[in-house]
Amino acid sequence: MPPTEYARSSPTSECKVLNAKKGVITKMKILIINGPNLNLLGLREPDIYGRRSLSDLEVICTDAVSGTGTDLAFFQSNHEGAIVDKIQSAYGVFDGIIINPAAYTHTSVAILDALKAVCIPTVEVHLSDISSRESFRQFSYISLYAEKTICGRGFDGYTEAIAYLTEKYGKH
Ligand code: DQA
Repeated sequence: MPPTEYARSSPTSECKVLNAKKGVITKMKILIINGPNLNLLGLREPDIYGRRSLSDLEVICTDAVSGTGTDLAFFQSNHEGAIVDKIQSAYGVFDGIIINPAAYTHTSVAILDALKAVCIPTVEVHLSDISSRESFRQFSYISLYAEKTICGRGFDGYTEAIAYLTEKYGKH
């Protein structure tokens, strides 16, 4: 369980510039980051993560934004530093981040700090319901920054995250 002094810090109190963008971005650019072992989707523990691949996920997300004006970019890495570098490079480029940090969810202060540094609206996604799995999966460093966390919805979690970001920050 998380120590009690940990609290989700709302980006709305820290990111005044980005707050000004709510509901006004005409062509949203969203970066979708997948962490370690998610390149093995379909092969990896299919009873938990399903039989579809990472490429299948990217097609589903791309289809979900087709004709909407939203642009997606995909990044997967098994390396914490590469994920930190990617988040840093998103500053000034992307309007939203969707991240499944995989095992780094439960260990990475570095990814948490990178997200806080760039201050881009972020949705955390997990294919499985981490709250009902082993105790070591039940705490997420990333949840301390992410403005929304979606767990246990499989691939739908990603399209729900896209919908959340585009509805909140995109122009309607
Ligand atoms: C995961 C859950 C994590 O605990 C695990 O380490 C993963 C995948 C999920 O999508 O359910 O690699 O993030």
